[in-house]
Amino acid sequence: MLAIAILAAGKGTRMKSDIPKVLQPLAGKTLLQRVLNTAKALQPDRQLVIVGYGSDRVRQSILDPGVEFVEQAQQLGTGHAIQQLLGPLEQFQGELVVLTGDTPLLRQETIQELVTTHRHRGASATVLTALLPDPKGYGRVFCDGQNRIECIIEDRDCTNAQRQNRRVSAGVYCFNWQELAAALPKLTTNNDQKEYYLTEVFNYMPLVYALDIPDYEESLGINDRRQLSHAYEVLQNRLRQKWMQEGVTMLCPETITLEDEVVLAPNVILEPQTHLRGKTQVGANTTIGPNSLIENSKIGSDCEVRYSVMIDSTIGDNCRVGPFAHLRGHSQVGDQCRIGNFVELKNTTIGNRTNAAHLSYLGDATLGNQVNIGAGTITANYDGFAKHKTIIQDGTKTGCNSVLIAPITIGANCNIAAGTIVTENVASNSLVIGRVRPEIKLDYYDSSGKKQK
Ligand code: UD1
Ligand code: CA
Repeated sequence: MLAIAILAAGKGTRMKSDIPKVLQPLAGKTLLQRVLNTAKALQPDRQLVIVGYGSDRVRQSILDPGVEFVEQAQQLGTGHAIQQLLGPLEQFQGELVVLTGDTPLLRQETIQELVTTHRHRGASATVLTALLPDPKGYGRVFCDGQNRIECIIEDRDCTNAQRQNRRVSAGVYCFNWQELAAALPKLTTNNDQKEYYLTEVFNYMPLVYALDIPDYEESLGINDRRQLSHAYEVLQNRLRQKWMQEGVTMLCPETITLEDEVVLAPNVILEPQTHLRGKTQVGANTTIGPNSLIENSKIGSDCEVRYSVMIDSTIGDNCRVGPFAHLRGHSQVGDQCRIGNFVELKNTTIGNRTNAAHLSYLGDATLGNQVNIGAGTITANYDGFAKHKTIIQDGTKTGCNSVLIAPITIGANCNIAAGTIVTENVASNSLVIGRVRPEIKLDYYDSSGKKQK
């Protein structure tokens, strides 16, 4: 049997934040959610999260069924936190893996290897360790020649000589639960912080091994904002490498940001300052950027999206979007469309080969195929109380600066003349023109520009 417990009760004082540290966001997910996702991938029999500081918020942040929350009412140290498991795991037999909620870069494969190695050696405990270039703040691991751990000493309890040791504990362990349960009651607070340290249990266990992580970045813990931004950089580098290997071109990759669930087809080109978030998908041969933000959106193949923002929206194949377009609110655009210069779509559905190329707002609208929206066309969808729908059928053209007052339906193959305000439904094949006819006063000025009498 395998149980995984995640330490998530601490406040995270060094973050200088009101929210519990494990709820800090990192590339679209909280630190804790990242650790939990890694844990779940191992399909453990039990998943326990130890909560304390901001307990309600931490519990609410996790929607995964099957997670057991264990309360650590007072945060008296990592050892005290694990002592809270003595009740819930009273009947449990097998291995307990302990993860910390602030170590989000750890890979699932690494934890799997920790468990496998631990079982293979028949150890009492196995500790993930790493050689850090800058080990400041971490517990230092002291081993004999056979990778057996003699002790772990926290940074603040180390002598200057001990502090030179760059081998640290990642705060990730695999325990034989029964041996750990026997050792937990022995913990003391004989240390600089007067806390119950989990690392003290190794003094009471016979066979404790270290397992080195070759990629030390996996072991990085997030205690302050500097480490949070460093972890973001590490995650971004992993994602960029992965997608470049899959055939995506990135210009100035260090300016491009991605999230885990983004899916990119081969031959996608990402130009500088492109940010893809959430469940965004991009089809083959599409170019995005420079300077675009795409969130939870789907973009077809052979598209161009320049200097634009898309949130929760989709576009088909062979579309041109931008510069400076904003698609949001579950807008859906078909194939071969043009959504251009300063056009905003909100909750609007558009067919194929339809263009809205300049300066328009189309909200709560449904447009058919081959519609042409003239510059400055606005759907007036809000009457001050509720939002209303606009329907524009196939082949219709709207003139510049026309205003369509919703709710309204404009039939197919209509022509709305420039400057017209349309307030009622229009049957197909109509011309709609409603303007004040201008008065032209001939010879109003003389040749020097002076007004005539
Ligand atoms: C801890 C380890 C250190 C290791 C480092 C790796 C101890 C004593 N130290 O140090 O050896 O090198 O992690 O990142 O274990 N927590 C609780 N309850 C508490 C205290 C802490 O749940 O009473 C949780 C925190 O929310 C956090 C985790 O335990 O997720 C680690 O606590 P933290 O204070 O960050 O420990 P470090 O000083 O980083
Ligand atoms: Ca930490």
